Amino acid sequence: MGEPSQTHKAERGENMAKKQQAMVSAAWDIRTSFQSLVALLIAILVVAAIYLRQTNEQLFESGTTLSGGSLTSRCNLFSGKWVYDNESYPLYKERECTFMSDQLACEKFGRKDLNYRFWRWQPHQCDLPRFNATALLERLRNKRLVFVGDSLNRNQWISMVCLVDSAIPPAFKSMHNNGSINIFKATEYNATIEFYWSPLLVESNSDDPVNHRVPNRIVRVQAIEKHARHWTDADILIFNTYLWWRRRQMNVLWGSFENPEDGIYKAVMLPRVYEMALQTWAQWLEVHVNRNTTQLFFISMSPTHQRADRWGGIQGENCYSETEPVSKEGYVGDGASPRMMRAVDSVLGELKTRGLNVHMMNITQLSDYRKEGHPSIYRKHWETITEEQLSNPKNYSDCIHWCLPGVPDVWNELLYAYILQL
Ligand SMILES: *[C@@H]1O[C@H](CO)[C@@H](O)[C@H](O)[C@H]1NC(C)=O
Ligand SMILES: *[C@@H]1O[C@H](CO)[C@@H](O)[C@H](O)[C@H]1NC(C)=O
Ligand SMILES: *[C@@H]1O[C@H](CO)[C@@H](O)[C@H](O)[C@H]1NC(C)=O
Ligand SMILES: *[C@@H]1O[C@H](CO)[C@@H](O)[C@H](O)[C@H]1NC(C)=O
Ligand SMILES: *[C@@H]1O[C@H](CO)[C@@H](O)[C@H](O)[C@H]1NC(C)=O
Ligand SMILES: *[C@@H]1O[C@H](CO)[C@@H](O)[C@H](O)[C@H]1NC(C)=O
Ligand SMILES: *[C@@H]1O[C@H](CO)[C@@H](O)[C@H](O)[C@H]1NC(C)=O
Repeated sequence: MGEPSQTHKAERGENMAKKQQAMVSAAWDIRTSFQSLVALLIAILVVAAIYLRQTNEQLFESGTTLSGGSLTSRCNLFSGKWVYDNESYPLYKERECTFMSDQLACEKFGRKDLNYRFWRWQPHQCDLPRFNATALLERLRNKRLVFVGDSLNRNQWISMVCLVDSAIPPAFKSMHNNGSINIFKATEYNATIEFYWSPLLVESNSDDPVNHRVPNRIVRVQAIEKHARHWTDADILIFNTYLWWRRRQMNVLWGSFENPEDGIYKAVMLPRVYEMALQTWAQWLEVHVNRNTTQLFFISMSPTHQRADRWGGIQGENCYSETEPVSKEGYVGDGASPRMMRAVDSVLGELKTRGLNVHMMNITQLSDYRKEGHPSIYRKHWETITEEQLSNPKNYSDCIHWCLPGVPDVWNELLYAYILQL
């Protein structure tokens, strides 16, 4: 009895040992396979990280052209949505920007709803690089960046100056305004960020930077040299022109403003007259701009918000008292002209076939959502407000320009995405 039992015991022992061994080895297997799984995962992560870093470097650092895997070629930055983000926005504070304009300082002039500062633009297919003033200034070292155009372009210029302002100590920056020319300089970088006033790009009787509100507007559609000689040798040029053309027709002068009696006047309809001016501008660029070194941008039209019924508001109201962007995806208001946009597109297309690449910054649609982003009555008023206006604030609202910090900061973030990969 004993023997079998001993045998049995022994067998059992052996079995147990085997089992234990099996268990141990199973555990070992599990452990090793777990370890190799972890190792594999780590390897995958490392590879992914290296890949992503390389891709990022390609996107944000090394790229010299916009071709290949660059951000702007694989992603439409202008198609996206606004996301409320009070963690990372605003990118600067209104009262801390040394060069803020009273036309755009909405908080200073009494606006209580300040949520317009907190919206981030999120493209559908990718993320915008985070704005880094130092990185931009490095890119602009020994360079001239010049905004050329109307008060909307000035709005964007002030935004750009505010975006870099806090990164530069007071002793290392200067501002110099002389007539149509406004020059912000970061002296340590020998970099300038300038604004040149020419609301129609070509010559007109509205070219005086202060007294330009002339009732009878006259434009010399074939003349641009007087303005262009001030910015032709810039390294980065950012143009716009739209609002001053938004009328049925324009008076065109063939001849000079000095001897107007000798000239020929003719009223030319829109969009024909706009196309003529853009042609003059395009021809100037083609002949005078060094395409090897100059980067060119055209900011599409900035939409206005004068008619609330367009976005489902009350008829007769405008942007005044709006507190939120339009949420309906694909919303198109009436504050921008599609046929003028097509005119720009077509001129830029022609220039491209002749080897001159002007990047269209299509900010129209994305800004169209931002009906709440305008100063309305919260800005400095240059003329006295009448009793009648006071009783009806919407009558004297500015639904054209944009509060800062706000929408133009995003235009500059988009511009920044392009400049980084130039
Ligand atoms: C501008 O962008 C919007 C939104 O992506 C698009 O619908 C529109 O066609 C674009 N316009 C031009 C002229 O590129
Ligand atoms: C952001 O907004 C939310 C909701 O309005 C609020 O609870 C939060 O404190 C805000 N965060 C910051 C950083 O202001
Ligand atoms: C901004 O750019 C500078 C220069 O390229 C770099 O040294 C710095 O780390 C960047 N800052 C952030 C927050 O990424
Ligand atoms: C400063 O920048 C300008 C262009 O804006 C350039 O012509 C000049 O050579 C630069 N100066 C130095 C010292 O690099
Ligand atoms: C302003 O510009 C005018 C004409 O271009 C020039 O004669 C004048 O010296 C400039 N003034 C200053 C302070 O730079
Ligand atoms: C631009 O670059 C091309 C090719 O490198 C060169 O042939 C041409 O002379 C350059 N043009 C100018 C204006 O520098
Ligand atoms: C102000 O608005 C009222 C009603 O919307 C209008 O009747 C009036 O003409 C406007 N006044 C001015 C000066 O625009």
